[in-house]
Amino acid sequence: MTTAILFSSSRASGDTFQIVKYLSDNSAVQMFNLSEHSVSFYDYEHQNNADDFLPLMAELVQFEHIIFATPMYWYSMCAQMKVFIDRLSDLLTIDKPLGRQLRGKQCSLISSGYDSNAPDCLWQPFELTAKYLGMHYKEMLYLSCPSEFKLADHKVTLDDFIENALTC
Ligand SMILES: Cc1cc2nc3c(=O)[nH]c(=O)nc-3n(C[C@H](O)[C@H](O)[C@H](O)COP(=O)(O)O)c2cc1C
Repeated sequence: MTTAILFSSSRASGDTFQIVKYLSDNSAVQMFNLSEHSVSFYDYEHQNNADDFLPLMAELVQFEHIIFATPMYWYSMCAQMKVFIDRLSDLLTIDKPLGRQLRGKQCSLISSGYDSNAPDCLWQPFELTAKYLGMHYKEMLYLSCPSEFKLADHKVTLDDFIENALTC
């Protein structure tokens, strides 16, 4: 199964990035860094339709499995990811054919946070959004990083994820 990871964080080389980097270094997943794309807030008048959102989506729909990677900020996704998720509304209005290409695809979530466990409100927007778009939400990989990300603390979990979620 081909897999893309869409990474976003307010910290370019922070915990979430280290997680995604390990996964992309050790599997065939392709990472897309949202900060390298100009995606602006949802606009009801679609005056931003020439920014990077539609070209980025056109690349993502080439994959069978799309993983969203975001740190947990205030029990939710980071703001940059929320801007991207809001723009999925463009696929219900100005580019429906592109939106239809999401149907049947797999979708997952990767997140990091200080707390030991993630609340349901972190993953539920992804599950519900996937359902609305006709995608199949698979799972969330949440890594608790109470101090700086240390690979040794998470290597077994990450290797399991590679084997079970990325290598099939
Ligand atoms: C603005 C902000 C809000 C945060 N909110 C939470 C939170 O609600 N729950 C939590 O466990 N950690 C929270 N944290 C800690 C981060 O989720 C954690 O340090 C994460 O691993 C950082 O990932 P990053 O390096 O990719 O930003 C927050 C951090 C920031 C900067």
